[in-house]
Amino acid sequence: MTGSKMKCGFAITFAFVVLLRLGECADGSYEVSFESYYDINDGDSSPQERPLVHLPTQGSFEGDHFAINGTDINIMRFLGIKYGNVPIGGRFKRGLHVDLSHSSRKTDASKEPMPCPSFPDLDMVMENEARGINVDDCLTLSVFTRKLQSATYLDSNTAVVVYIHGESLFDGSAEEAKPDYLLKNEVVLVSVNYRLAPFGFLFDNNTHSMPGNVALADLEMALQWISKNIIFFGGDPNNISIMGQSGGATLAHALALSGKAKQYFHKMILMGGTALNPYLIEDNAEKTAIEIAKHANCRVYRLDDVGRCLYNKKSSEILRAFYNYKKEHSFNGGNKIIVGDLYNFIPKHPALMIKDPERQLNIPLLAGVTQHFGAYLISSGFLSILI
Ligand SMILES: *[C@@H]1O[C@H](CO)[C@@H](O)[C@H](O)[C@H]1NC(C)=O
Ligand SMILES: *[C@@H]1O[C@H](CO)[C@@H](O)[C@H](O)[C@H]1NC(C)=O
Ligand SMILES: *[C@@H]1O[C@H](CO)[C@@H](O)[C@H](O)[C@H]1NC(C)=O
Repeated sequence: MTGSKMKCGFAITFAFVVLLRLGECADGSYEVSFESYYDINDGDSSPQERPLVHLPTQGSFEGDHFAINGTDINIMRFLGIKYGNVPIGGRFKRGLHVDLSHSSRKTDASKEPMPCPSFPDLDMVMENEARGINVDDCLTLSVFTRKLQSATYLDSNTAVVVYIHGESLFDGSAEEAKPDYLLKNEVVLVSVNYRLAPFGFLFDNNTHSMPGNVALADLEMALQWISKNIIFFGGDPNNISIMGQSGGATLAHALALSGKAKQYFHKMILMGGTALNPYLIEDNAEKTAIEIAKHANCRVYRLDDVGRCLYNKKSSEILRAFYNYKKEHSFNGGNKIIVGDLYNFIPKHPALMIKDPERQLNIPLLAGVTQHFGAYLISSGFLSILI
């Protein structure tokens, strides 16, 4: 695989994803449907009791279970467990640790959680806002496992896979990872919701109201949570692989280079992406922030005005501004990794970080692209959008 082929693949994939969304948006519909190549047979619920996991600091989580279609393998799932809080006013900042004072609370973990806000989901975001929900508070993860930790001893040797979803850093959710395929093997799967696009990346280097790369801080926090809690789901905290797809692979690789979460994972799988993807590295963070703020009807004369204004907007207003900004910029910008963020995840260009001997990863790494990555380009659906 040559470098230029890879770049081209990313560019085209990226353009396609956005074109597809825009097509939908032009119809006035923001509905997203994820392609499903798995089949979770929800209808076939057996009379078994619902599985319950007790976390010492977060209370009990009641999941449910189902059989992988066509097998008698029983899987337990726990959906939407909070690993961090984004309080009102904490929108562009690192999440806060979950409240530890609820150890006696029982939470229903059988429903798909609200995904982090993205513009293809604008209608849903607006509905949730109208119901008074803090839509920024979206830091959840879902766990799929075949067996739980025994009640009497803590010891597990089941490998853990942490899935970081793709969709170019502005779309998608943890729901993309379905367990049917992976859990035919003895493995614990975790899928993470992290903040997207303007909420995950916007950067203000003047007032520091927006530190940048908050999405990476979310993933760091999720891995810290997993490292501490996965044993209660039967997973081995000393055998954790992060697995990113497309934009998710870019984030996984960036996080690994940052060195920030290295104590929380031991192997890495990059599917169709690396931190070198030029389409996902911001080259003018200040300009992007100012322009998005202008689209949100902020009165902006300089960068200092941006954060002040955007903290007072609804999330849906920021998403709409981001969407309009994207329309104007060949779908580029506002959803990219910041070089020089205030959390110091990415202090210099990833190409330089890779060369830095102190950042050598020294962990097993699997990387590649699928043979048909981007093949939808030749589908009639894609051509009809182009023409
Ligand atoms: C289960 O898998 C079979 C064979 O792959 C498929 O034909 C069937 O539609 C699936 N069942 C459900 C409930 O989707
Ligand atoms: C991690 O899990 C895999 C798959 O079960 C196993 O082959 C490997 O030996 C484990 N590694 C460690 C360090 O326990
Ligand atoms: C942020 O500001 C500092 C101090 O003025 C400067 O050294 C640094 O290069 C700036 N970073 C970015 C990414 O613009």
